[in-house]
Amino acid sequence: MPTTAAKRKVVPKARANSSAPDYDVHDLGLAEAGRKRIEWADKQMPVLRRIRERFARELPLKGQRLGACLHITCETANLLRALKAGGAEVFACASNPLSTQDDVAAALVDQYDIPTYAIHGEDRDTYYSHLRAVLERHPTITMDDGADLVSLLHTEYASLAERVKASMEETTTGVIRLRAMANDGALKIPVVAVNDAQTKHLFDNRYGTGQSTLDGIIRATGVLVAGSVIVVAGYGYCGRGIASRARGLGADVIVTEVDPIRALEAAMDGFRVMKMIDAAKVADIFITATGDKHVLSSIHFGLMRDGAFLSNSGHFDVEIDMAYLTDTAKKVEKNVTRNVDAYHLSNGRVVYVLGEGRLVNLACAEGHPAQVMDMSFATQAMASEWAAKAKHLEIKVHEVPVEIEQEVAGVKLAAMGIKLDTLTAEQKKYLASWESGT
Ligand SMILES: NC(=O)c1ccc[n+]([C@@H]2O[C@H](COP(=O)([O-])OP(=O)(O)OC[C@H]3O[C@@H](n4cnc5c(N)ncnc54)[C@H](O)[C@@H]3O)[C@@H](O)[C@H]2O)c1
Repeated sequence: MPTTAAKRKVVPKARANSSAPDYDVHDLGLAEAGRKRIEWADKQMPVLRRIRERFARELPLKGQRLGACLHITCETANLLRALKAGGAEVFACASNPLSTQDDVAAALVDQYDIPTYAIHGEDRDTYYSHLRAVLERHPTITMDDGADLVSLLHTEYASLAERVKASMEETTTGVIRLRAMANDGALKIPVVAVNDAQTKHLFDNRYGTGQSTLDGIIRATGVLVAGSVIVVAGYGYCGRGIASRARGLGADVIVTEVDPIRALEAAMDGFRVMKMIDAAKVADIFITATGDKHVLSSIHFGLMRDGAFLSNSGHFDVEIDMAYLTDTAKKVEKNVTRNVDAYHLSNGRVVYVLGEGRLVNLACAEGHPAQVMDMSFATQAMASEWAAKAKHLEIKVHEVPVEIEQEVAGVKLAAMGIKLDTLTAEQKKYLASWESGT
């Protein structure tokens, strides 16, 4: 990953009472381009726009300090605008070093007055200094995409935890981590599992990840998907979306799984299901989407075809064992084409890794389409409002209230011009009764 020292142009002075600067972005000169991109995305985000307008009237977040650790993209910028319109003081950092859109980060600072700490390609130290900068602003509500901010809040910044009313978690991997913390009695703040809302994972993980993962692979490699053998590891929400989109483009899709029910579902959906060790020998393109580690590992690389593409769409860059691949490769050629590194194996074959094994849809494309993020982020905004208004929230992982889900889906349907039937009084009574049978 490139270091940021040479790239960074803007390092403003530190804030009073804090070692963190007011913001840290690549180049404020990009702000106008970022503004245009944010406004373009806004046109595809009718649900969030309607929430922003209501928030501006009602100010439900007044008095809250909202620290967000999210992918800094134009869709996220529109979520941050809605939260600010709701009266919150908002500040943000990146949840992934490779997903930051530098023009959007610049626009957030320059055009929307939202302190932002995010530079595309930032190294690990910079990444964590940005998370710290957000926590040093003492948030009362946090938002996370992978639980990195909350993890830091529980370790280095534990003294701040009692001021945090709640944290929203956007992704599967983060929710798994937070549930593990709750089970161990280690969780110190209430968390809302936004990821688990149907208005999030059904649409974002499935349709968003499905389309954008293929988009990332095509942008990085230019490969013809039709006729390719594609292995999708994991048949969860993301895997289902990826597999169905790959099939739609004409690929021969193989699924690998560890869960018998998901494996059966994949088989009945018409995909070949096999062990990775068998799939490794026949695939042209590998896509991991499991949330697990070393799904592609030392036992698989040597079996792969010459020229195979390896990509990951799971949250962390651990699904492909990059350390093993790097240590054992005879030669590594970086950027043989943009975002693609060639690993020359000891058996003489070459495999190509996309986006350094990080989220391929963000590293090699632009993440999810705005229409999909509209629903996830509408749910984020309304869950924040719910948490801000709550008198007391128990310290545990909370589900998103069903009324929020229904409102988000209803507004989205209205925006799409779709009408649906409603239950008659007679039907409601029938569905609630147990006495009437055949
Ligand atoms: N790329 C993106 O933009 C994006 C968006 C949403 C979620 N995610 C991430 O994608 C990952 C998957 O999310 P999801 O919502 O589909 O999760 P999920 O829990 O619904 O599905 C994961 C599936 O992987 C399977 N699995 C686990 N270990 C495996 C292994 N070793 N081999 C094969 N299968 C295995 C599980 O049995 C499960 O069926 C998570 O890390 C999540 O955070 C990425």
